[in-house]
Amino acid sequence: MLWSDEFADRLRENAPLGELTWFKLGGCARYMFSPSSEGELRDALRAAGEAEIEVRVLGGGANLLVRDDGFDGLVIRLDSPAFQAVEYDGTRVIAGGGADLMMLARDCAGRGLAGFECLAGVPGTVGGAIRMNAGGKYGSISDTVRSVRLMDTDGTTIDVRSRVLGFGYRSSLVGRRIVLGATFELSQEDAESVKERFHRIMGEKKASQPMAAHCAGCMFKNPAGESAGRLIDIAGLKGATAGKARVSELHGNFIVADDGATASDVLTLAQRVQTSVREQTGIDLEMEVEVW
Ligand code: EPU
Repeated sequence: MLWSDEFADRLRENAPLGELTWFKLGGCARYMFSPSSEGELRDALRAAGEAEIEVRVLGGGANLLVRDDGFDGLVIRLDSPAFQAVEYDGTRVIAGGGADLMMLARDCAGRGLAGFECLAGVPGTVGGAIRMNAGGKYGSISDTVRSVRLMDTDGTTIDVRSRVLGFGYRSSLVGRRIVLGATFELSQEDAESVKERFHRIMGEKKASQPMAAHCAGCMFKNPAGESAGRLIDIAGLKGATAGKARVSELHGNFIVADDGATASDVLTLAQRVQTSVREQTGIDLEMEVEVW
């Protein structure tokens, strides 16, 4: 028995993960738990630690590929109100780690709070976005983060200033710690101009990326000074397939899962892309998407 009975209604065994990811692929989690408070989360982490069960946090599933045989551990979902709340205090925004990033970015634009427009069309949760420093060519979430509240894998909590998190391009030092919430400092502008920028950036993404397809955004990180999408494109790989996985014809850095695809199709295709780009350009593409 891993957890006390009081968690029973929020703890599931063999819970399908694929439907909770944008790829819509992959197997089950051995356990899945939605804590209703920081205290419950701490208890679950400690119980998992004692039982030597691996723990992962599932955010919006937007940058994640779950293998076909699933994840043999505990998956935490911060989908209860305690972790999704958003508070506005002037230009300061305090958001839970489980808050929806797109809704937050849209809401801030509507209030004339500038700084999140670079996140227009970036799916996921606040926690996931902080962990991977999500963003695009107009900026990253780290530009506006002031502090982050984290829970360590042993259940201890700590509030840290942004600079301690060592934000880099699509990276941070969050690691396996859980983002409980974050405080952002935005700037007040006229709502119409912030909304206009938000919609323009969203429009650019819609025109250049297959946003409605089953995929996880960009598959690879951009190598220094280059665009992974352009390299894949000039390597002639657009439209390449492995099983039912396909390199998007719209943007080379997107691998799309067509009906009937498996996670293994996607991984096979990703490896083929890496090999082919390495052979043709000498450049190693590093995966941006996390694989469980
Ligand atoms: N390009 C091609 N062919 C392609 C794709 C791109 O020639 O198939 C060219 C474009 O024409 C452009 C250049 O490559 O000249 C860069 O392309 P784009 O503007 O689409 O940006 P990107 O570098 O491929 C980055 C982020 C995206 C983000 C966009 C827009 C990474 C890996 N990608 O893409 O983020 O949406 O900028 O801001 O950092 C993600 O991280 O999941 C993601 C989608």
